[in-house]
Amino acid sequence: MHQSPVEAAPKAELHIHLEGSLEPDMLLALAQRNGVSIPYSNADELRAAYDFANLQEFLELYWAGQSVLRTERDFYDLAHAYLARAHRDNVVHAEAYILPQGHTPRGVPFAAVLDGALAAFEDARHAFGITGGLILGLNRHESEADALAVVDSARPWRDRILALGLEGPEKGNPPSKFTRIYDVARDLGWHLTAHAGEEGPPEYIIEALDVLRVERIDHGVRCEQDPALVRRLAEAQVPLTVCPLSNAMLKVFPRLEDHNLRRLLQAGLCVTVNSDDPPYFGGYVNANYTKASAALGLTVDEQYQILRNGFVAAFIHDDLRSRYLRELESAWSASRQ
Ligand code: ADE
Ligand code: ZN
Repeated sequence: MHQSPVEAAPKAELHIHLEGSLEPDMLLALAQRNGVSIPYSNADELRAAYDFANLQEFLELYWAGQSVLRTERDFYDLAHAYLARAHRDNVVHAEAYILPQGHTPRGVPFAAVLDGALAAFEDARHAFGITGGLILGLNRHESEADALAVVDSARPWRDRILALGLEGPEKGNPPSKFTRIYDVARDLGWHLTAHAGEEGPPEYIIEALDVLRVERIDHGVRCEQDPALVRRLAEAQVPLTVCPLSNAMLKVFPRLEDHNLRRLLQAGLCVTVNSDDPPYFGGYVNANYTKASAALGLTVDEQYQILRNGFVAAFIHDDLRSRYLRELESAWSASRQ
């Protein structure tokens, strides 16, 4: 299959939820394997339900879908399928959210979630050369005590977790609710990120930066309502992990053509492109690049800048970052000969 330069380029994906990569076919197969009953009998019925007015509507379906994940093997299969699919989009580095709170309340052992997903990353490193790892996600509508229990349960995996992240319903759940949890994670040596400014106000981005002291912002597109914040993000080169198809599907922007990705890039922000929950939103990372490029008229230089930003923003050692940036540069010049 012929790929355009942006599709063929080596890339990093920094914002993907493993549970959100559950394809309808796998969801049905796992429901059968685990004897979980779901109100859909085929993949088309599931796909027909992927029509959302907002984040909350999506989250309800996403949480319901997760109920088919029960065993370590399920988490291995889920993460393996994502990594194999990402490899086809030339993802060479992936940082993926996993959400223990979506599973442990149903009796799934914490170890099954983490060991399954980590084993898939390990195998993908050998099979595909993909580097990366897990972002431990916290549900922001759940309590601080619950978040602390998640972080405590994760201590045995301390050295195999890349970062702490915050996800779930944003409005009414400000980042400051988790200040103490982020302090604990910082002491554990984890990188820090958080969803902010997806549906929520620019103030939540400011809180994530000043109170949680995150290194990246997931989404962050609502920063545009505060010009001083836009200047700050550009000056400090705080990466935004933007997910264009997600934002269009969840009506953060009325249409993909209305997305502010290009304006933010032109304002000097370190924007990256990612898939969030690909089967739910109509595409993996390459589809996000190609559809956003077409809808917004991104130039090839702008595409290259976004690809570069992915490696600049990755939670990796600078030696590996330099290697990936060199590989991107040579692949890009070769593909444009
Ligand atoms: N969990 C999965 N996708 C999400 C999103 N786009 N926003 C918040 N939480 C999520
Ligand atoms: Zn997300």
